[in-house]
Amino acid sequence: MTESLSFVHFSDTHIVRPGVRLRDVDTCETLTRVVEAVNRLTPPPAFVVIGGDLVSPDVDPEVKAKARALTVRDYETSYEVLQSLVSRLTVPVHLVMGNHDRRVPFRRVILDESQPWDRPHYYAFEAGPYRIGILDSLVPGHDGGYLSQPQLAWLRQDLQRHAEAPTILVVHHHAVPVGFAGLDQIMLMNAADFWMVVRQSHNICAVLCGHVHLRHETVRDGIPLFTTPSTCFQFAAGSDTWKFLPGPPMLRLVTCQGREVSSTVINV
Ligand SMILES: [Fe+2]
Repeated sequence: MTESLSFVHFSDTHIVRPGVRLRDVDTCETLTRVVEAVNRLTPPPAFVVIGGDLVSPDVDPEVKAKARALTVRDYETSYEVLQSLVSRLTVPVHLVMGNHDRRVPFRRVILDESQPWDRPHYYAFEAGPYRIGILDSLVPGHDGGYLSQPQLAWLRQDLQRHAEAPTILVVHHHAVPVGFAGLDQIMLMNAADFWMVVRQSHNICAVLCGHVHLRHETVRDGIPLFTTPSTCFQFAAGSDTWKFLPGPPMLRLVTCQGREVSSTVINV
């Protein structure tokens, strides 16, 4: 019998606090709608992966207007709100770091670490015969992403150790250009190193990214790569200047049959 798996990837939830609107979108309200949509899926997905930019108190309109300074407590509050919203999911959830995230408050609130320090949050888990690799491309203070050499060494080793397991990798920053210079300047900066590791393994079935608030699907080195739009505002595809649309919230339903990965983007 062919192995199969279905799961949901959604991304860029950009939680601040209830009632705060970013680019004309109440990001708590749109995440709530996406969570409800996931809970209605039949059959239920095996799990959800949230692809980074989980919170963004740094772009709170009050902080942007310098009406008050950004504090670690702001991040903790945003993670607490995120946690309460995603706790309504009826399936397990895995979280990826994005450029707006900060590891110390994430670790304190979400991972319940009492003495957190700023170390990358990457790991792999099994879903039936499949393996899912969660990568951390966050470089605090920078919009672009980077995968550290220790993380790439870990990834290479993990792929070798589980060479039989069809594997899907999830990383926040897009690992291929999407064709808009403004976005491609802040992509995964050492994408070449990443693709070198991918090429050396023979078990990667797909790569999932967020960050661009845009749907993009391509194939690189024989591996399908999908970017998933945001659960809140979207980048206006086809525009040559920065332009965002206030929705709709979207999620990606990923289906694996053997080593074939297909997916559909659902407007919520
Ligand atoms: Fe984002």
